Amino acid sequence: QKFNVAVLGATGLVGRQIIETLAERNFPVDNLYPLASSRSAGEEIEFKGQSIEVLDVEQFDFADAHIGLFSAGGSVSQKYAPIAAEAGCIVIDNTSEFRYEFDVPLVVPEVNSSALADFRNRNIIANPNCSTIQMMVALKPIYDAYGIDRINVSTYQAVSGAGKEAVEELAKQTAHLMNGRPMENEVFSKQMAFNVIPQIDKFEDNGYTREEMKMVWETQKILGDDSVLVNPTAVRVPVFYGHAEAVHLETRMPVDVEHVKQLLEQAPGVELINDDHDFPTPVTDASGNDSVYVGRVRQDISHPHGLNLWIVSDNTRKGAATNSVQIAEALIAEYL
Ligand code: A2P
Repeated sequence: QKFNVAVLGATGLVGRQIIETLAERNFPVDNLYPLASSRSAGEEIEFKGQSIEVLDVEQFDFADAHIGLFSAGGSVSQKYAPIAAEAGCIVIDNTSEFRYEFDVPLVVPEVNSSALADFRNRNIIANPNCSTIQMMVALKPIYDAYGIDRINVSTYQAVSGAGKEAVEELAKQTAHLMNGRPMENEVFSKQMAFNVIPQIDKFEDNGYTREEMKMVWETQKILGDDSVLVNPTAVRVPVFYGHAEAVHLETRMPVDVEHVKQLLEQAPGVELINDDHDFPTPVTDASGNDSVYVGRVRQDISHPHGLNLWIVSDNTRKGAATNSVQIAEALIAEYL
């Protein structure tokens, strides 16, 4: 059986990656409909050696698609996801628009694929935030074995998480600064090249950024456990592809580091760098790959229930496109 698949945001960074991932993983696509705004309708997109024309989403009839992979921003999903769902197209939404609604499943297939069972509630399934996805894939086996009371996490996030204009801004700023020319910033609130910015998304009333609160809300929803406390700081760094995270856990039971490493060796989607003198990085390991790379696994020398990990993954792949396509794969395998 093959499926008609619409990709909304097809000309964007994640949309393009979704189309590439559908081809790479040989998803059973019958017709592919790349959708974007009228600005880029008529452009051509490559899929399995074929050129396919980008369509204006406003003109598209979602009754023609079985599955819709949406990645064109929250306001676009807010408008088109209900229209698509109503027309019978199952939406897998990569924006944060529906993630916190109780009747919308929020799914990382390696962690909580059973949550998919409720997809018919709204015909919408939410794909979590990139930083949360990689953290969940790595922490699930530890959560299952030891319980987790608290997660302290600092992120080092690539600019591609903010879309193609952000990637272009970092490249341009870097080139301009290297050439002694004046630098401009539009996407980022301050200079991004050769700098780090502890703000991702807008500030909330509690002084945390929305990106940080996403990690709190989504961790609890995905694990189905509001008792897991999350204390995040989300930082943008001048890296193009691949998010890194320094995670400091407080487990419910005392941890045995060697056992944790064994669990991680066997965990689906995880690649453990089991070497005390080596580590994964966004550029050398994660970028262009689908795994979640874990290294620097250490007992916290300041706390008997403490464990430190360094978690790295390609935010445009496992953090976005790959996870969305895996949701679609689980959906068709189990329910369609
Ligand atoms: P378009 O090329 O027509 O602007 P990124 O996250 O890399 O910035 O990409 C955003 C994606 O979302 C692009 O494919 C963009 O298409 C699409 N998009 C943005 N606004 C709209 C809209 N109002 N309607 C449909 N697609 C949109």
